[in-house]
Amino acid sequence: MKTLRSDWEGAILVCGKCSRKVDGFGPKKRPLAKMLRKLLGLGKGRRARMGIVETRCLGVCPKRGVVVVDTRRPDGWLVVPEGADVEAVVERLA
Ligand code: FES
Repeated sequence: MKTLRSDWEGAILVCGKCSRKVDGFGPKKRPLAKMLRKLLGLGKGRRARMGIVETRCLGVCPKRGVVVVDTRRPDGWLVVPEGADVEAVVERLA
């Protein structure tokens, strides 16, 4: 088995299926994962400080919201309502 080095301190899992069901976030109606990556100042791939990963359905399926899991705090999942202020989400995750 091979090990790949990574600089991730944790990962933020964003339900990709929820993301497709809502209109989007911010003035340009972008997907939540993209907005979080931009506002948290994260790059892509293993060299980023933290990973943002779009997942399949996480089994919660809120109406008009997106499920987000911060792997550093796996005991408290977030449901981000459609059109919510992404800055507030970033503050919570930072
Ligand atoms: S569609 Fe996102 S949790 Fe099921």
